[in-house]
Amino acid sequence: MKDLNEFATLSYKGKEIQLPVITGSEGETAFDASDLRKTTGCVMLDKSLMNTAVCLSSITYVNGEKGILHYRGIPVEMLVEKCSFVEVAYLLVHGALPTKEQKSTFSHLLNVNSLMHEDMRHFFDHSPCGAHPMHILSTMINALAVFYPNVDQLSLKEDIELSTARLISVVRTMAAFAYKKSIGEPVVYPRHDLSYCANFLNMMFDSPVAPYEINDDAVRILNSLLILHADHEQNCSTTTVRTIGSAQVNLYATISAGISALSGPLHGGANQEVVAMFRHIQEIGSIEKFFNQVKDKNCATKLMGFGHRVYKTFDPRAKIIKKKCHEFLEKMNIHDPLLDIAREVEEAALKDDYFIERNLYPNVDFYSGIVYRALGIPESMFTVMFALARLPGWIAHWQEMIGSKTKIVRPRQIYVGKSLKEL
Ligand code: ACO
Repeated sequence: MKDLNEFATLSYKGKEIQLPVITGSEGETAFDASDLRKTTGCVMLDKSLMNTAVCLSSITYVNGEKGILHYRGIPVEMLVEKCSFVEVAYLLVHGALPTKEQKSTFSHLLNVNSLMHEDMRHFFDHSPCGAHPMHILSTMINALAVFYPNVDQLSLKEDIELSTARLISVVRTMAAFAYKKSIGEPVVYPRHDLSYCANFLNMMFDSPVAPYEINDDAVRILNSLLILHADHEQNCSTTTVRTIGSAQVNLYATISAGISALSGPLHGGANQEVVAMFRHIQEIGSIEKFFNQVKDKNCATKLMGFGHRVYKTFDPRAKIIKKKCHEFLEKMNIHDPLLDIAREVEEAALKDDYFIERNLYPNVDFYSGIVYRALGIPESMFTVMFALARLPGWIAHWQEMIGSKTKIVRPRQIYVGKSLKEL
């Protein structure tokens, strides 16, 4: 952060208040209003925090006007081409890509923590049939603190390392177990000889009667998807993680809250909704008819997978996923009619004034579901895949927040209810 030694002047009731101007490393400028209430007695009203930077962060840079996304200063396009998800997870959590030795230590830590406590398997046995895997996941992660209570000792660096590795590794096991349970098949345990993504696919699709053969293309595209979802600065779930974490709640409870936030259809839950929408458009047989519903102010229908609070141009992640999705389906010789619909919907929306005027472009969720379908991952698991990918980002933000001794997050409100004099 640079202090420009410049000030913005706010004038109120004949008094002038100087707000220091600060700038980030990519030139974003902010008025520092930290002392506003102390000096004026007033607060800022900023509903949904649309104009508020809640922290200083050195993890991820997003430029919504230019469609730029960097993790720790490295363009996401480069990371997708050159790195594995495990390396990117290390980058986010530790601040730099791992050396060969660091990668091997980190991978070892992931391996030795890939099993969840055997008693936790009973949770799956007693979950009602049809329960959404995101609800099961957030419950299970919260329960980790019961089985591994040392997570409360935040001051011990090795505990943080261990809890971080456990989360990144065991959530993958939980996700695959949840799937196996949902289809009534025996669970498949993780293997130390497989890479992170290969291990996940094996736990999902191996069975006693039909051994799963690792497909390198599937592993590669899963790595790419996880990398592209690994962090996105102060989105709803990450802000939830920082907010809850600021009360010094343990890491597992904090991440569980992040997962709950992610499950919403306006956030990570959109990837599941997108595919349902493509199917709906296929059924009604008309994009125009669907767009009319979207444009109707009395109708709550949205073009899912389109629009973003920050990106007012193409989401760079959507561009990469679209390209990889085409390549992967072609290579696998898969013809998914929903991909044809996705392409037509995108093309129509990009030519339509409603979407043009509002700067609505495809976001990360628009094509990801088509890839998951091609990988054989069921729709109810799509948001779980997002959660799996977002873990390193959440953990990095939690660590940064703990490290910078953030005060408990406690916004203000403007009370507009009955006043004493009205009673
Ligand atoms: N379909 C139709 N209209 C839309 C859409 C959409 N997907 N997104 C925004 N708009 C319209 C709004 O209705 C509004 O129109 P108005 O000015 O006539 O009232 C205008 O565009 C501005 O939209 P806001 O709702 O103010 O944008 P906001 O930044 O609050 O919302 C959001 C962003 C939630 C992502 C929104 O675009 C949306 O609901 N998209 C669909 C859901 C989705 O894909 N979510 C995933 C986002 S990425 C992620 O979280 C991983």
